[in-house]
Amino acid sequence: MEFISDLQGTPPSPSPLSGRDCLTLAEFDPAEIALILDEALRIKTLQRSRIPYRPLRGRTLAMVFQKPSNRTRVSFEVGMYQLGGHALHLSPEEIQIGKRETPSDTGRVLARYIDAIMVRTFDHGDLEELAGAADVPVINGLSDAHHPCQALADLLTVREEFGGLEGEKIAYVGDGNNVAHSLAIACALTGAGLTIAHPEGHGPDEEVVRLAGKLGAAPRLTEDPSEAANGARVIYTDVWASMGQEAEAAERKEKFAPYQVDEELMGLAAEDAIFLHCLPAHRGEEVTAGVIDGPRSRVFDQAENRLHAQKALLYLLLG
Ligand code: CP
Ligand code: NVA
Repeated sequence: MEFISDLQGTPPSPSPLSGRDCLTLAEFDPAEIALILDEALRIKTLQRSRIPYRPLRGRTLAMVFQKPSNRTRVSFEVGMYQLGGHALHLSPEEIQIGKRETPSDTGRVLARYIDAIMVRTFDHGDLEELAGAADVPVINGLSDAHHPCQALADLLTVREEFGGLEGEKIAYVGDGNNVAHSLAIACALTGAGLTIAHPEGHGPDEEVVRLAGKLGAAPRLTEDPSEAANGARVIYTDVWASMGQEAEAAERKEKFAPYQVDEELMGLAAEDAIFLHCLPAHRGEEVTAGVIDGPRSRVFDQAENRLHAQKALLYLLLG
């Protein structure tokens, strides 16, 4: 038997999430999110103990990338390998979503070869169309609107640090972007309290805020970073210009300058507060080198947790 049951409990079999997509995390209820995080911790413990665990032998994941990536590409590819399966990297040279063929034809064709599809793309609508046509699980590896796998790793990191999520005070300071959206949905589903501090005109999408409200609790919104940071246990930021917004980078730099996470802002947070960033980071812009390379930073644990969270997700969607 490959799974050592007295180490970390028994994996659910058959998986209650079998065959499902993960496009925003809103597909899941709180118990299902908790299950993914529990599985991630179990799989992490197995890996740390060097216990082989290969439930996805013979299964294949297609990874469709329309934007660059370090963490997402490597963690999905390595994760699939560690689970006994195989991952296939498809760059824009091979697949141009919506250009060479429709997103739905791409999804239907891939599903004939492949057991699950991970997609990193621009338009979230393309992803929905592809997922609607593919009768295998589709995982969002980042779209302009959502980054659900990131949020799973974020919450895993917070849970490991503080032992739980319910009532934890998280401050996201910066652009109300894909990372902020997924964090809002994840917090709503886990009872963590999120405040988003953003410059005027750069708040999260109203629809996502409403959705988070329906799922549990809407994030608090403010334009004052100090108000968000005050007493928070987690201070989180992301780049000011996301992939695809390069032309706005200079203008945004000026507008977002008061939202830099620096030592002073961290000083307003709880004494044991941690700093998170999805990475890649721009030192001297959204965060100072002192903070991201300082003792409160958990950004590399957070990056590692992408691997464990996604292995859990793959196992549960393909189980
Ligand atoms: N955080 C994240 O998704 O990183 P990559 O863009 O490198 O995949
Ligand atoms: N908001 C960033 C996240 C990168 C992981 C982007 O979309 O570029």
